Amino acid sequence: MKQALEKIELAAKEQLAKVADSAELEALRVRFLGKKGELTAILKGMAGLSAEERPVIGQLANKVRADIEEAVESRAAELKDAAIRLRLKEEKLDVTLPGKAPKLGRLHPMDTVMREIEDIFIGMGFDIVSGPEVEYDYYNFEALNIPRDHPARDTQDTFYISDNILLRTQTSSVQIHVMENRKPPIRIVSPGRVYRSDAVDATHSPIFHQIEGLVVDKGITMANLVGTLDMLMKRLYGDECKIRLRPHHFPFTEPSAEVDIVCFNCGGKGCPMCKGEGYVELLGAGMVHPKVLKQCGIDPEEYSGFAFGLGLERIVMGKYGINDLRLLYENDLRFLEQF
Ligand code: PHE
Repeated sequence: MKQALEKIELAAKEQLAKVADSAELEALRVRFLGKKGELTAILKGMAGLSAEERPVIGQLANKVRADIEEAVESRAAELKDAAIRLRLKEEKLDVTLPGKAPKLGRLHPMDTVMREIEDIFIGMGFDIVSGPEVEYDYYNFEALNIPRDHPARDTQDTFYISDNILLRTQTSSVQIHVMENRKPPIRIVSPGRVYRSDAVDATHSPIFHQIEGLVVDKGITMANLVGTLDMLMKRLYGDECKIRLRPHHFPFTEPSAEVDIVCFNCGGKGCPMCKGEGYVELLGAGMVHPKVLKQCGIDPEEYSGFAFGLGLERIVMGKYGINDLRLLYENDLRFLEQF
């Protein structure tokens, strides 16, 4: 019996050393020390011992129990320690490692220039307003003095949603909304997308951007228009920048002009970029047609105004020397990262 007890103690200690986690440890404890455990089984046999042997074996049995208990406890402490050490190792943070720099985005060149232009106009006392891209025929054409059978509609062939509703072909539609809702003095610019049924090439896209300008007040003349555009272009391209007005026709302005600036590439001598002209066309403009004012409830005898519409893409391309419009829409990072 003495040998059996010693064997149990040895076996318990041996197996304790191999235990890897607290669940295994608990199983082992039950196996050796539990009510149905190996030690209990041996103690049950003590009834058959002689009176001299009984206290000796009893004492030994108690010592074995205490030894195993102590071994279990110390193994438990070891396991707990190891677990903590493992967690610390896993959660170790080297604060001296170089950081991962987040990829910073940047503004698209279209947005940069759009904001620049908005800032220039805000500086001149204009409000920025926006208008709907899905528009009634009335605002895009009819109220701008372009009736159903007018040939000007052909050059702005668009996407119709119904007979009466379309994707706007020009931001000039915003002129009408503004004049319906505000009383002069009016000074607004309105940037936004416009749509035309054009095939894509280096200078055309079915979706592009315009910035509309409208000023209505007492005594507004062509001189105010020229002064405003001259200021805009000088702020955008530098003080040497010169503009030129050519007579033109728009149904909703009278007189009308197309406005060119001296070619940013050759300075007016003529080069491939300006097709030998020395100038590049940038926008359409004119004095708001009296019919349009009247249509919006503004008395043309009392008020006059000017309007202009400039193509944002053209300005961006000129400013950065971009020769293909498609680059602006493709979102190729190799292109965009240059700005
Ligand atoms: N809306 C005209 C266009 O798209 C430009 C324009 C705007 C002309 C305002 C005159 C006045 O061509």
